[in-house]
Amino acid sequence: MESTVSQTETQYFKRFPLLSDYPKKFVLKDGREVAIRPMIKEDVEALYDFFSKLDPDDKMFLRDDVSRKETIIKWGENLNYDVVLPIIAIFDGKIVADGTLHASNYFWTRHVAEIRIVVAKDFRNLGLGKKIVSELFFNAVKRGFKKVIAQVPFHQLNTIRIFESLGFEKEAILRKHIMIKGKGLADLLIMSCFTDKVIQNLKVSI
Ligand SMILES: CC(C)(COP(=O)(O)OP(=O)(O)OC[C@H]1O[C@@H](n2cnc3c(N)ncnc32)[C@H](O)[C@@H]1OP(=O)(O)O)[C@@H](O)C(=O)NCCC(=O)NCCS
Repeated sequence: MESTVSQTETQYFKRFPLLSDYPKKFVLKDGREVAIRPMIKEDVEALYDFFSKLDPDDKMFLRDDVSRKETIIKWGENLNYDVVLPIIAIFDGKIVADGTLHASNYFWTRHVAEIRIVVAKDFRNLGLGKKIVSELFFNAVKRGFKKVIAQVPFHQLNTIRIFESLGFEKEAILRKHIMIKGKGLADLLIMSCFTDKVIQNLKVSI
């Protein structure tokens, strides 16, 4: 089934200069097509449904408790793309991935942004995680963030691969920093990318 990209949505995102090319279509490795766009307040129900179906381990790295519907309702009410930019993927009316770009809350790290991503189990290994991460990353570059980071469980090779393919490097390991259900404490890897390097590479390739 094709993803739906409505005219109303197309008009809505024209209000935001850096988001005016949304919604976009993206073809997965299995040929299915999803729509990709920032979350809007009408997505609350579908986003809650998406989080409800995730394994508890897949929700652990999120900042808020997404098992509470009030959390998602608050996100919908307080949407501010400059503070948190949530990009979702939609297939057949359902949300199948959610990635976020977080501007730093602290004054002395205001040049730093962080990316988080989660993809529905049955949509993994189809290129969707990488697509959403790259959408968020290039938004961070366009907004002038100097450094973008991601916090990745040290053993999670697929996530590391996604970030490395975009130019991120392993920067630090926080030992026994996260708790994985059934596995105990595990190391957390901080990956980072300095955006001036990316801009330089883009200039060279033009
Ligand atoms: C991490 C996650 C977002 C990846 O999403 P995805 O849609 O499956 O990712 P993609 O299909 O775009 O890319 C996965 C990459 O990992 C590679 N990969 C898969 N298994 C791998 C493994 N065991 N070792 C190394 N690479 C692996 C794939 O080949 C692919 O790389 P390629 O595009 O170069 O072939 C998804 O697994 C997820 O939601 N995990 C739970 C939440 C989480 O841990 N998020 C990360 C915190 S920021």
